[in-house]
Amino acid sequence: MAQINPSILSADFARLADEAEAVRGSDWLHVDVMDNHFVPNLTLGVPVVESLARATDTPLDLHLMIEDPDRWAPQYVEAGAGSVTFHVEAAAAPVRLAREIRAKGARASMALKPGTPIEPYEDLLPELDMVLIMTVEPGFGGQAFLDIMLPKIRRTRELIAKHDLELWLQVDGGVAANTIERCAEAGADVFVAGSAVYGAEDPAEAVRKLRDLADKASADAWWACGH
Ligand code: DX5
Ligand code: ZN
Repeated sequence: MAQINPSILSADFARLADEAEAVRGSDWLHVDVMDNHFVPNLTLGVPVVESLARATDTPLDLHLMIEDPDRWAPQYVEAGAGSVTFHVEAAAAPVRLAREIRAKGARASMALKPGTPIEPYEDLLPELDMVLIMTVEPGFGGQAFLDIMLPKIRRTRELIAKHDLELWLQVDGGVAANTIERCAEAGADVFVAGSAVYGAEDPAEAVRKLRDLADKASADAWWACGH
């Protein structure tokens, strides 16, 4: 079944616990950490993640858009994250970092910006629990979905199948009712949605609708057969 991870970047930061409650029933809460260096925007850090982890039962899916994730990512596991995604463009030693995240007890995930190809990282895939293919340039919510990323989603799913891996494939950026089906057909099974969820009148209902669309679209997809 498709997983929908609402992004709290589009939520009200003064009411994070309530905003987490508003999407009860979603699989994970997606938390975007930005440092104003790796991306031109600044959000939140370890203390806020610690508080949010205490305030909600929904596991936290951390997306670190920061420089030097080798140094900071382990602290987000200690803060209570269930999954930590680092950008491969920023990581000095991605294999060592993925192993450290896993050893500390979280799922390890690697993100690729739109301009970064997946092929050079084929050999790293067994070290990971998830790959995040960005479908916008990271930094801001509410941007238009980049269709040109669909072939990369498909090629990543092919690599996962080729190596027979239990790897989740997440997409993030511009995922909404009019784009989620194409992502699911191409091979994504974890969907981040910010404005499409928190911009809706009923965020929990928006999550259910997106999950339904993704499930239907992937039901007949080549990569999901036998799932
Ligand atoms: C963008 C963030 C996304 C963002 C997505 O850099 O990584 O998680 O919240 O927002 P939408 O779904 O509005 O494109
Ligand atoms: Zn994100």
